[in-house]
Amino acid sequence: MLSEKMLERLNEQINNEVYSAYLYMSMSAHSTHIGLKGFANWFMVQYQEEMVHAMKIYDYINDQGGQVLLAAIKEPLTEFESPLDMFEKTLTHERFITGCINDLVDLAVEEKDHATNIFLQWFVTEQIEEEGNDNDIIARLKIVEGDGNGLLMLDKELSTRVFTPPVSSGA
Ligand code: FEO
Repeated sequence: MLSEKMLERLNEQINNEVYSAYLYMSMSAHSTHIGLKGFANWFMVQYQEEMVHAMKIYDYINDQGGQVLLAAIKEPLTEFESPLDMFEKTLTHERFITGCINDLVDLAVEEKDHATNIFLQWFVTEQIEEEGNDNDIIARLKIVEGDGNGLLMLDKELSTRVFTPPVSSGA
């Protein structure tokens, strides 16, 4: 059973995750437009991962007998100066999401809501991986800055990213 406050915050987090998906879809569209299909693929996989995050919270609220309430998704950014700019904006956004997850964990601890605390640990770990991926790509984009061949090599590498659907618990 979720407190009213926790239910409200979890519903907000569904919105944050769907916004994340929308933001990365926008970055994917921009990457395609400027001829970087590998970057477009990477961001489209990220879009799919964000929808999985949203659905995890959606399912959790339902499992706890709460009501999922969806709200408007704000318009994503559409203008980017460069691939580096896209990834810097991605990292900034992911740091914001990490902060949201941390706030949710703080609330779960405060409310002694152990179930939600355990549920949120998956997101805590996921955020370490997400920020790590972004930091890694930002570092490499800084190395290849101004080098078209280097950028195309990185684009080729990012084209290999594959979305792995979550394994169903079978429950
Ligand atoms: Fe769902 Fe990128 O955090």
